[in-house]
Amino acid sequence: MPRLTTILGLESSCDDTAAAVVQREANGSAQVLSNIVVGQNDLHKAFGGVVPEIAARAHAEKIDLCVEKALNDASVDLNEVDAIAVTAGPGLIGGVMSGVMCAKGLAAATGKPLIGVNHLAGHALTPRLTDGLEYPYLMLLVSGGHCQFLIARGPNNFSRIGGTIDDAPGEAFDKTARLLGLGQPGGPAVQQEALSGDPKRFRFPRPMLDRAGCDMSFSGLKTAVLRARNEVMQDETILIQDVRDLCAGFQAAVVDVLAEKTRRALALYLDENPTVPALAVAGGVAANTAIRAGLESVSADLGVTFTAPPLALCTDNAAMIAYAGLELFEAGHRDGMDLSARPRWPLDTASAPMLGSGKKGAKA
Ligand code: KG4
Ligand code: ZN
Repeated sequence: MPRLTTILGLESSCDDTAAAVVQREANGSAQVLSNIVVGQNDLHKAFGGVVPEIAARAHAEKIDLCVEKALNDASVDLNEVDAIAVTAGPGLIGGVMSGVMCAKGLAAATGKPLIGVNHLAGHALTPRLTDGLEYPYLMLLVSGGHCQFLIARGPNNFSRIGGTIDDAPGEAFDKTARLLGLGQPGGPAVQQEALSGDPKRFRFPRPMLDRAGCDMSFSGLKTAVLRARNEVMQDETILIQDVRDLCAGFQAAVVDVLAEKTRRALALYLDENPTVPALAVAGGVAANTAIRAGLESVSADLGVTFTAPPLALCTDNAAMIAYAGLELFEAGHRDGMDLSARPRWPLDTASAPMLGSGKKGAKA
């Protein structure tokens, strides 16, 4: 029987400390043997966003425990893994350093190879882990920190063909929720209220649809929501139906922008004549049913398969880092002890850098 390849992955680039074990099976598929994620929401709640220093300290405290649990859950001994993969950026630098230092320690102690993984590549390769998608495919990353279209051609070969020039859609959902007195994270709360709202009552702008290309902007939308809210608010109070209609109007605007920009991104991607055309979406915002429906409908129009990995693998996790590490390992990639933690690390160095810096750290 051929020897299976087993990778331990570590992730600590934002506010989740995570470790996972992924294995390449004899039949060529990949299997998640364990996937441990320890969040930090409670630590940051009082501050209205992720505090980098608090995040870094929590990662340093928790990462060893996550590694131990991931190995235990997978019933794999550290000496049995073939390599140690770790997020080396982009992200909040203190957190990335915690993970990189831990991975270096493990690599030095065991003599196993070290592989630095780009966090965005982890997200972008997830549909290969979950659905065995073939290259090239189009990837839309939409979360609280990311928003970009990538054509994925290999574990180290991505073209970014568009993205947000300011806020990520998740940030816009979170800020809208805050303006309307809803809880955090804002996405699920706004989606819930939008269900009983009228999406046509408030006609919010569809930013950048009048501009060619696949770039997007979401920061103006929250200002539009703020203005509309102030118009309907009386004596500092707002009726629940007003909140619902504002949520529905806001969500409809985000859906329209993402759907139209996806249509354009798909057209560019289809120019490459992929054998099995596919669109994949990842990131927390991919949980939004209205957004999913919009993307599914655009994909169906253009004869493209639509894939969304299960939510636990769409949001930040270490299984995606272990899997990206597995593909890089198989391609012969190895890093040395000089691997550095990078706050910014664009996946596609040929495209212009992304602008803006979200609440969850610098965008690549
Ligand atoms: O991928 P994720 O867990 O973390 C990073 O941002 O890296 O994404 C979290 C974001 C939050 O902004 C949250 O409000 C948003 O995803 N989100 C949603 C929904 N569920 C989570 N946005 C819209 N609709 C949802 N159902
Ligand atoms: Zn992420």
